[in-house]
Amino acid sequence: MTDPGPNMPSTPQDDGFSYRSLLKNYISLTGLALAGIALANIIVLFIIDITSAVPSPYTGILAYMILPGFLLGGLALAAFGAWRERSRRLEAVPGAPLLPRIDLNQPGQRSRLAVFVSFVVVFVLLSAVGSYRAYEFTDSTTFCGELCHTVMHPEHVAHDHSAHARVSCVECHVGSGAGWYVKSKLSGARQVVKTILNTYPRPIESPVANLRPAAQTCEQCHWPRRFWGAQLKVFNHFGSDEQNTPRQLRLLIKVGGGDPSTGGQAGIHWHMNIANKVEYKSDAKRQNIPWVRITDRNGKVTEYQSTAADAKAMASMTDRRMDCVDCHNRPTHVYTPPDRAVDQALAGGRISPTLPFAKQQGVTLLTAEYKTTPQAIAAIQQGVNAFYKEKYPQLVSTRSGDIKNMSDALAAIYQENIFPEMKVDWRTHPDNVGHYYFNGCFRCHDGSHVSKDGKVISKDCNSCHTVLGQEEGVLPSAVADATPFFKHPVELGDLTSVNCSDCHNGGVGP
Ligand code: HEC
Ligand code: HEC
Ligand code: HEC
Ligand code: HEC
Ligand code: HEC
Ligand code: HEC
Repeated sequence: MTDPGPNMPSTPQDDGFSYRSLLKNYISLTGLALAGIALANIIVLFIIDITSAVPSPYTGILAYMILPGFLLGGLALAAFGAWRERSRRLEAVPGAPLLPRIDLNQPGQRSRLAVFVSFVVVFVLLSAVGSYRAYEFTDSTTFCGELCHTVMHPEHVAHDHSAHARVSCVECHVGSGAGWYVKSKLSGARQVVKTILNTYPRPIESPVANLRPAAQTCEQCHWPRRFWGAQLKVFNHFGSDEQNTPRQLRLLIKVGGGDPSTGGQAGIHWHMNIANKVEYKSDAKRQNIPWVRITDRNGKVTEYQSTAADAKAMASMTDRRMDCVDCHNRPTHVYTPPDRAVDQALAGGRISPTLPFAKQQGVTLLTAEYKTTPQAIAAIQQGVNAFYKEKYPQLVSTRSGDIKNMSDALAAIYQENIFPEMKVDWRTHPDNVGHYYFNGCFRCHDGSHVSKDGKVISKDCNSCHTVLGQEEGVLPSAVADATPFFKHPVELGDLTSVNCSDCHNGGVGP
């Protein structure tokens, strides 16, 4: 055997050049090893991700974003190694063909080609599944809400407890269409940078200036022409006295709507959104609204200006067309004020209404300043125990269960509504529906917004709701018996002894 010499290919073919084993070099082998390890990990994590009930955001990040990077990097490295090896060999055999000659008559080459084609097909399929999962994953509530624990924690927790808990973040924040998808990923990338650099604002600011218009998000699910009629709402309040004296108020809220096909066109929804265009000027927080313009369905324009408006401040204000979010600005990130949260806990029995001063103590402890959530919870529990120990020592043993429930309920309220780490609570994110804790509707309906011809945006107490009932001292059932009985227009005697459908059949007849 003669040594082929350093410049000769190891397995000479007819033309003295071989494309075999181009991958047998350190660079390519390292690349292949890297790709192999990444692929094995992706498969394991993929199985974990689709089989686990509570997917962790980290599994997704690794399986669909980081590891595929390593896989591609490994393959690229292998290709680079092969290319270098090829150039090296080409240098040694000048005039060698640029590409390998494939001869499908040789069984060895046939099977190698088959292996190569199968690899490409499987790889393309896997990347298709992988990209789809990556797309789904970056749109999931887990990704948006849990990955940046601290940053999105308040929004995520509030979302979890709201009517929209099953609506994913992207359905309101991104919506459909490629344009908004790309936009959201770009702003998402900026947010990741801010998170890593720890330069994000605390709290995350609202209003969200570039929120997608409600017509393309909310209105995909809530048909704005739907006529809501009036809605009964029950408000329970408890006093700060020793008895936590209950007061109940039942309001019929005239939500209305504007569906021309059923004829109903009235109330809060119709007037504001569907037939009319309402525009306004406001400060950045949208809390101070000195100027409003309404264009009705006939094109008639009316401008209202607050008698307290300051012309200089108004010049620098932003214009906005009113939509759902101008009233429903907290449809899902609801930070309930302590006063209301404790009322709800008392009405629902999570705090016993017979524990003396439960309302007053609860609100006092929840509104105190704390640096961190754990510190707050410890202080609240200690505060409840200390209060009853000092003021009502006899209750500490007889009502120990109720006292424990009270401190547990307060701790839960705190964790769901107040976030000292992000400086978020009801004061930083006012709710614009109503007018009790924040100006809300009264930003415009304050009785001081006047048009040139003297019309005033109404503050009439019956224009938005009617009081159905109001009691103090006892909590009555949700609906009081104002008219205790339905009176049939034709005397039928005892109504429980007849079947309505015997006479009322939906066609001709009574
Ligand atoms: C039902 C629709 C809806 C869903 C679902 C939703 N959001 Fe929002 N979100 C809003 C609206 C509306 C605002 C803006 C309020 C404003 O501009 O005053 C907002 C505001 C925010 C803000 C700004 C701070 C604030 O509280 O105003 C963040 C951050 C946020 N959302 C994150 C999330 C995350 C994370 C999820 C999923 C866990 C989510 N959102 C789900 C409607 C939604
Ligand atoms: C993907 C569908 C979907 C989208 C998008 C959506 N919602 Fe809803 N919304 C629902 C469902 C479902 C409910 C009812 C939940 C229930 O009653 O349990 C609901 C309930 C509500 C309620 C009454 C619940 C309450 O808080 O008492 C309001 C108000 C509301 N949505 C407003 C909005 C606004 C404003 C937006 C846009 C920022 C929006 N929704 C976007 C599906 C959606
Ligand atoms: C002028 C303020 C205003 C605007 C604008 C507005 N709403 Fe409302 N909406 C209300 C009020 C007030 C209620 C009554 C419920 C309440 O008091 O909590 C209500 C009730 C609702 C409810 C029923 C809530 C329930 O408790 O079941 C839904 C759903 C809703 N609105 C969706 C929308 C959507 C979608 C839009 C945009 C097309 C919109 N609203 C625009 C003020 C408004
Ligand atoms: C941006 C200013 C603005 C805000 C905020 C606002 N409104 Fe209005 N509202 C108007 C204007 C303007 C009119 C029309 C007055 C007119 O020309 O008759 C109106 C009319 C109404 C009407 C019809 C009144 C009538 O006389 O029949 C109702 C009901 C109503 N608003 C309810 C609400 C409720 C409830 C809220 C809060 C959830 C609210 N509005 C918030 C500007 C506003
Ligand atoms: C522009 C519409 C509008 C006008 C005008 C208005 N309200 Fe209201 N009010 C509302 C809405 C909407 C709610 C329900 C808020 C909610 O769902 O939390 C409400 C809630 C209330 C509540 C219950 C608050 C609670 O949390 O217990 C009281 C009490 C009340 N209004 C009294 C009045 C009185 C008194 C006036 C006259 C000075 C008045 N309202 C004028 C829209 C209006
Ligand atoms: C024996 C036949 C009969 C039975 C049973 C009966 N109704 Fe009627 N109902 C009538 C007649 C007849 C009228 C029409 C009265 C008129 O036009 O002045 C009427 C009218 C009414 C109306 C007024 C509607 C309208 O079109 O004027 C209501 C609401 C009503 N009934 C409800 C009931 C209910 C609820 C029941 C079951 C508990 C019931 N009815 C059982 C015969 C009956």
